[in-house]
Amino acid sequence: MKLLHSYYLLLIACFIIGCNSSSVLSDSQNRVANVETEESPVSPFVKDLMSKMTLADKVGEMTQLSVDVISVGDPYNLKEPHTLDVAKLKNILVDLRVGSILNCGGHAYTKEHWNAIIDTMQSYAKQKDSGIPVLYGIDAIHGTNYTQGSTLFPQQLGQAATWNPALAKTCGEVTAYETRASGIPWAFSPVLDIGRDARWPRLWETYGEDTHLAKAMATAYISGMEGDDISAADKVASCMKHFLGYSVTLRGKDRGQAWIPERQLLEYFTPTFQAAIDAGAKTVMINSGEMNGIPVHANEKILVDLLRTKLGFEGLAVTDWEDVGYLVNRHKIATDFKDAIRIAINAGIDMAMVPMDASFPVLLKELVEEGKVSERRIDEAVGRILSLKEELGLFKPTQDPTSYTEFASKASQAKALTTAEESIVLVKNDDNTLPLSTESKILVVGKNANTLNSLNGGWTGTWQGTDAKYNTPGKRTILEALQHRSGAKIMTATADDAVSAAASAEVIVACIGETPYTEKPGDIDDLDLDADQVALVEAMQETGKPVILVVIEGRPRIVRELVDASKAIMIGFLPGDEGGEAITNILYGEANPSGRLPITYPKYSNDLVTYDHKGTDLVHRDFSMNGFNPQWEFGYGLSYTTFEYSALSVMKNMAGGMDVSVTVTNTGDLAGKEVVQVFVTDEVASITPAVKRLRGFEKLALEPGASTTSKFVITKEDLSFVGRDNNWIFEPGDFTVRVGSLVEKVKL
Ligand code: BGC
Repeated sequence: MKLLHSYYLLLIACFIIGCNSSSVLSDSQNRVANVETEESPVSPFVKDLMSKMTLADKVGEMTQLSVDVISVGDPYNLKEPHTLDVAKLKNILVDLRVGSILNCGGHAYTKEHWNAIIDTMQSYAKQKDSGIPVLYGIDAIHGTNYTQGSTLFPQQLGQAATWNPALAKTCGEVTAYETRASGIPWAFSPVLDIGRDARWPRLWETYGEDTHLAKAMATAYISGMEGDDISAADKVASCMKHFLGYSVTLRGKDRGQAWIPERQLLEYFTPTFQAAIDAGAKTVMINSGEMNGIPVHANEKILVDLLRTKLGFEGLAVTDWEDVGYLVNRHKIATDFKDAIRIAINAGIDMAMVPMDASFPVLLKELVEEGKVSERRIDEAVGRILSLKEELGLFKPTQDPTSYTEFASKASQAKALTTAEESIVLVKNDDNTLPLSTESKILVVGKNANTLNSLNGGWTGTWQGTDAKYNTPGKRTILEALQHRSGAKIMTATADDAVSAAASAEVIVACIGETPYTEKPGDIDDLDLDADQVALVEAMQETGKPVILVVIEGRPRIVRELVDASKAIMIGFLPGDEGGEAITNILYGEANPSGRLPITYPKYSNDLVTYDHKGTDLVHRDFSMNGFNPQWEFGYGLSYTTFEYSALSVMKNMAGGMDVSVTVTNTGDLAGKEVVQVFVTDEVASITPAVKRLRGFEKLALEPGASTTSKFVITKEDLSFVGRDNNWIFEPGDFTVRVGSLVEKVKL
């Protein structure tokens, strides 16, 4: 009976989100009819421009192609060194009037090359009747990673591990500056998917498993990237990715099917997008996957009813890579490419990242002429595209590229170093093994000891981040940074020689984890570490020398069997180019670790539970309530100093929410940073409440002996959830607040 009931609820949820295609169509058609009667919200400049454009001009604007198709060579296999192809430029940019180009032809270029090729593209774009400039978009993911020598920050999961939104803002600022310095005005970041499945190969591209933390990091990053005026010479348009429901596929693999009930979708996966929209994010990229049996690129309920009507987004929606084509050959909901274009454009797509097939504008034009796509839909899309081009200042002269003297400046790199240091999470430090003395003789082993690529991960120089040829010159690996600091005291050995080399070492630093990947190539079949790495660490532990594990990874690989016999463990979620220095600074105590886990670290491959699980997840097989048993909890992380919490006060406020305050004291001998985390439990609710939810946090810097009081206002809105009718609701009642080890109750 219970089973039937929940199935029934799931069906209702699916119906609302769009499992039922007939309801989807009729609702959406109604909306389109309504929208079509309204004036498009475009400036007089864009209105005037559009009045002079032909249909061919307009469908060209809606097309986004890879730079491959205007370069010498074949797509995915360009001739080196990269050069633009004059005949292709004319065909694509003048004859077909393609409005947007993306990507690099396989690898990073110098900023001079970027500026030169974009200039050339603009000179061709000017030759078409409308003269509208090209909008170039690039994956600037943890810095301007496709421009050689740029400043590379930790990846998003590492940024989230800092629990310091100011650093995310800085990353947004530096990335925007260096992207514009490369002549590019549009960055495809941040990822706003919530990383609630540890297996997903793009977990490290998220801000972790918690919506509240991700919202804070994302809005800070976007404000850094866009500022108040995206036409400024140091700002770019951001792109919220990937709307919606990409990160939790059934099998944990990239772009697999997802089944997400509406309640979960609204409560866990939508708020980051809402917060980013409210923060002014200009563009959105659509989820490549399918949700509840409908590819998101074909789902008007998501792209129009939710994104536009409910969340109020007015900017540009671009597809992800080749996703219109995938409606035919992967998802099987369209008979051919033309049919797929009809479906996607009618569902609400404004621009198609085709990215290699120049037939898109031709077929779209035919669809309009055949009455299968309305001109109003085209105008709506083109209005958004041209508004963005106008806002970005593309119709005005661009700033002289040689004036970007702060590109990869020492100051920017120092910001990346601070971010990297704050991103490292110390999860074990028995007997205060760390910090080490610079006099210690250290043996450094492991496959991540001497590679910059593993510190950076995917989207670094190349898509997969595996080609060392494009690494930033002068940046140091962990081994190199340690050697630079302590010279001959640092030894290294291959796996074969490691045991004998350990004899002359006082301490062993084992650098293990993952090698770079993203998207499909990053799919794995289990979270276990490979046997070679486990064997190496076990051999090191058997030597009896203290072993320090440095785990560099994009998702939490299982380390259960290595934990007990390791004296200290630190985790780096792809700390970027400065990762080697940051880890060295932490090993020697020149930086005090302050990172905290932005995800729950699982102990077992098959026991993947987030911190905000339900009461039923607590029930253990022995019927105790000890069923939640991760390796380390979300929010966990150690410091070289100690902090004490006191005087937790929780009071109902005039607005019906709560005021929380707590005093934090640095009781150790070192200056350090503490992340104050406010977890709230809703004791009884009409939808089963999570055991706790993060409702506030603050990162404090405290000198030894210093105290401060952190204050939080937690509103009723913060405490609301998606109720039985799938609307947000606040239910008064008893709440329990936990900060550190302190607990207080309050009735609201
Ligand atoms: C990824 C996006 C990326 C796009 C453009 C896709 O494969 O899913 O995140 O922005 O490619 O490179």
